[in-house]
Amino acid sequence: MIEKIKETAGFLIERLNTIPSTAIILGSGLNNIADMAEDAVILPYNTIPNFPTSTVEGHEGALVRGKLFSKEIIILKGRVHCYEGYSMGEVAFPVKVLSYLGVKNLIVTNAAGGINPCFEVGDVMAITDHIKLSHDSPLFGKNIDEIGVRFPDMTEAYPEELINIAAKAAEKFGITLRRGVYAYMSGPNYETKAEIKALSILGADAVGMSTVPEVIAAVHGNMKVLGLSWISNKAAGVSGEKLSHEDVLKASKSISHKLTLLLSEILNKI
Ligand code: HPA
Repeated sequence: MIEKIKETAGFLIERLNTIPSTAIILGSGLNNIADMAEDAVILPYNTIPNFPTSTVEGHEGALVRGKLFSKEIIILKGRVHCYEGYSMGEVAFPVKVLSYLGVKNLIVTNAAGGINPCFEVGDVMAITDHIKLSHDSPLFGKNIDEIGVRFPDMTEAYPEELINIAAKAAEKFGITLRRGVYAYMSGPNYETKAEIKALSILGADAVGMSTVPEVIAAVHGNMKVLGLSWISNKAAGVSGEKLSHEDVLKASKSISHKLTLLLSEILNKI
């Protein structure tokens, strides 16, 4: 694995010259934010050695390096998921490379189902913690000591300091920022009502099929993580309505503006 990371890192240094300290992963429906980057160098994932490539509509993949709201940044436009057949280690590979390259801050965004009954579609939630019930881990296999320790601490996976930056940004624009626990489920099926009820009892506020593999790899690599979920639907059984990917993508159109505002201020302060 370390040889692959080094190969990909070498490729990126050659193409990007300098490596910014902040990176962002754009989840479902938020890809248009990457199009705002100025002086952009765009590397489609399928041109980057060892990068996993996505198969899902709405997740076209490219690494973009440019200025977003005056901040030099690396944007991972789209991501892959375990339900596409990748292991968590493969899903988190781009983050492992970024941490090897010295990126310090990682902003992760995703669409999530709202479990907390107070959450409405279109709300944004800062992730305060996560629950992973799945067996897999991005850190399975021989530890890569150059990146991090064998048994990384997860007590402050989502530092309060970054959540506060997001909270201040939300306040500035009069946006309500929810806070809550994100539960990872592998998908690709949406959850059953019983699963959502169980996750609620466990303390989850939102549920999704991404982000946690990348966050674990980021924490392993000593990166600071800010997780932003936007509620694209009420989770199974919360409203009684059936769930569809089309509805999730449709809801993303209404959230893009809100998240763009939030990110403009967060990137200014991070
Ligand atoms: N469940 C899992 N993943 C999701 C959901 C959901 O309800 N909405 C968006 N991603």
